[in-house]
Amino acid sequence: MRISLWLLFHLLLIIFSATAEDIDGSSSIIFTTLGRANYAFDIFSLPTSYTPEHRDEIVFTDGQSVNFNGYFPLPSSSILSLLLPNQTLTLDPTPSPPLQLLLYVTERYGSSNVYLNVYFNVDDSSPTTRRSILEGPSRIQIPLLNPKQSGGKISMKDRPSVAGEHLIYVSTHEDSEVPRKSWTAVYSTNLLTGETRRLTPTGIADFSPSVSPSRVWTAVASSGDKGWEGEIAELNTDIYIFRTRDGSERIKLIDHGGWPCWIDDFTLYFHRKTEDGWWSVYRAILPRLRTIRTELVSIERVTPPGLHAFTPAASPSNKSFIAMATRRPTSDFRHIELFDLERNEFRELTRLISPNTHHYNPFFSPDSTRVGYHRCRGSSKDGTGGPLIFENLETPLKDLSLFRIDGSFPSFSPDGERIAYVGFPGVYVVNRDGSGKRQVFPGMAFSTGWDWKLRGVIYTSVGPTFAEESTGVDIVSIAVDEDGDAGYPPYKKLTVGGKNNAFPSASPDGKWVVFRSGRSGHKNLYVMDALEGEKGGLRRLSEGKWTDTMCNWSPDGEWIAFASDRDNPGGGSFSIFFIHPNGTGLKKVVHSSEAGRTNHPWFSPDGKSLVFASDYAAVSAEPISNPHHYQPYGDIFTAKVDGSDIRRLTHNSYEDGTPAWGPTFIRPVDVVESPYSMARCSFDDCHWLGQANSNEVGILGSHPGSKPGSPNPNVIKC
Ligand SMILES: *[C@@H]1O[C@H](CO)[C@@H](O)[C@H](O)[C@H]1NC(C)=O
Ligand SMILES: *[C@@H]1O[C@H](CO)[C@@H](O)[C@H](O)[C@H]1NC(C)=O
Ligand SMILES: *[C@@H]1O[C@H](CO)[C@@H](O)[C@H](O)[C@H]1NC(C)=O
Repeated sequence: MRISLWLLFHLLLIIFSATAEDIDGSSSIIFTTLGRANYAFDIFSLPTSYTPEHRDEIVFTDGQSVNFNGYFPLPSSSILSLLLPNQTLTLDPTPSPPLQLLLYVTERYGSSNVYLNVYFNVDDSSPTTRRSILEGPSRIQIPLLNPKQSGGKISMKDRPSVAGEHLIYVSTHEDSEVPRKSWTAVYSTNLLTGETRRLTPTGIADFSPSVSPSRVWTAVASSGDKGWEGEIAELNTDIYIFRTRDGSERIKLIDHGGWPCWIDDFTLYFHRKTEDGWWSVYRAILPRLRTIRTELVSIERVTPPGLHAFTPAASPSNKSFIAMATRRPTSDFRHIELFDLERNEFRELTRLISPNTHHYNPFFSPDSTRVGYHRCRGSSKDGTGGPLIFENLETPLKDLSLFRIDGSFPSFSPDGERIAYVGFPGVYVVNRDGSGKRQVFPGMAFSTGWDWKLRGVIYTSVGPTFAEESTGVDIVSIAVDEDGDAGYPPYKKLTVGGKNNAFPSASPDGKWVVFRSGRSGHKNLYVMDALEGEKGGLRRLSEGKWTDTMCNWSPDGEWIAFASDRDNPGGGSFSIFFIHPNGTGLKKVVHSSEAGRTNHPWFSPDGKSLVFASDYAAVSAEPISNPHHYQPYGDIFTAKVDGSDIRRLTHNSYEDGTPAWGPTFIRPVDVVESPYSMARCSFDDCHWLGQANSNEVGILGSHPGSKPGSPNPNVIKC
């Protein structure tokens, strides 16, 4: 049955992909997502009555892909007959002991979807039996949404919950049509009919929905008309409520807050960063009046200063405690704790079992006996679940395959057969099917680009990223097919004297390399001889007290695309410009908005389109609910070279960047098995969750990338 449902789902996918739009030629886009290869999240739970003797952590998901943001629906007979039409009867008419349900988000098969897991005959009394049942054949997994519910579009799905026969969730499938306005909105899908309605008003973004116990109200975090103003830590959201049925009677309930959760129809918990610098959980009590007004809502702080407490969850069956994630000054790890509301005391849960693992976004079982969360699964006993070197993603564009690489700054060889990328440290080359991976340069380097004529020659910049104009960064060419000293291919330094020479891109005739350099005191573009480097000829291409960077030479040789902040030097805003190699014809091609960032342009093989990274779609989730991202926005987009026809390719709440476009179509089935067999689980918690009153660099209010020693591999900035 599990197999037939999956088949059905994939048949639907095939039907829908047949309607995908055309794009010229068959080609591939490859890009990076900061940290994603290391997540390997699964959903786990612990008993709320945790004692050292009763420390039975159970895994609920199957170790495939990334599974997160769980929710335990009540296993009512109506939801079962709804979700498993006809089939529950054949499996077990009267499951006893009762079955258990889990809703969660999963990114398997290259797209984001909400899944329902059903576990039969769960025996609570025996941990061993229970564990084997949860992992065994009496678990079925059902994808709940098909592309029809998103108008056939790709989207991020998140924060699922159930209200009667409706699935309430967020999705990003509708273009906000305004630059830097999030596409995240709340939807309701009737699980019986498939009918879907948007509950968030058009032009508004809503995050973190929570349905009240009576199902009448849904609360969300929303920035209302203000939109996103570039926040990367706490979003400037307020809490709104509306009727779950149709989104009507929407009102703002609480100024300044996020991640609401209801304990009853008159009490909400939420988080906010307090003026003393600590994130804390708050309680809001609503007036028992027919018309609720913001000024009548009473608000009190629940968790004390001295630690960060956030992403609260209300316990449905025992109102004397709530759960939340915390960051204590004594630990670099995020943990799930209960907070006893009568005694005003924390009760630690996950730190007692896995002190050095981050745990995210708690939720309760309907009887409040267990608290669920997601964490990195670590090594599994069957040795699966490790990161993939290439991960295929669904794309709406026919003849275009989209891949995420476990590395940064990828680029295709001219024949599309090989990919170079950097690994912080080191430069690597791998065949397009994922085989033959080898390191070709051992040092710290960033950005890669291939020579169009000399086979097996790649250009890179050696030195630190995000450095001052005067930093020692030089461009080298590496002959990856030759044998050099020390077991590495020979390389040649093309620039002299450092001064931040980076982002090399070769001309199609093989004669020149364009790059950015800080040698004048500002980062501008220069062109040098490809073979002899700047000694063989150097020409300045752009000049001004601003930053021009991330250049890419068009396949017909006529244009160089680059990112520049020249409209507002130093203001952090970047747009994509084109210039002819002879310095004429400068024009702005893509611009996200006044303060926006559009970076890393790369021409399509036919020269008619560009791929780039941008904050055009703003943020898609509250950043605190995720691991650290320097810039928790950033998606991959394509546009025509005249700047028209902007299309969003990636939908997630991660930081996507450094795309490149190659001339061959990589079929997912051609990619060989991952060489990794173990989840790496190495990623940071949000850097801005340090100690509230510490003077350390890179703690609260710091700007992205300021943590010492942490290179930002994704570089949506310069
Ligand atoms: C359930 O049974 C009804 C009546 O036999 C049938 O029309 C329907 O297609 C079945 N649904 C599924 C999902 O098998
Ligand atoms: C509810 O939780 C509190 C605190 O953990 C506990 O003391 C109490 O016995 C629980 N009540 C019920 C009815 O389970
Ligand atoms: C500069 O290059 C462009 C594109 O190749 C060409 O059309 C133009 O005539 C050139 N201008 C000069 C002054 O050489």
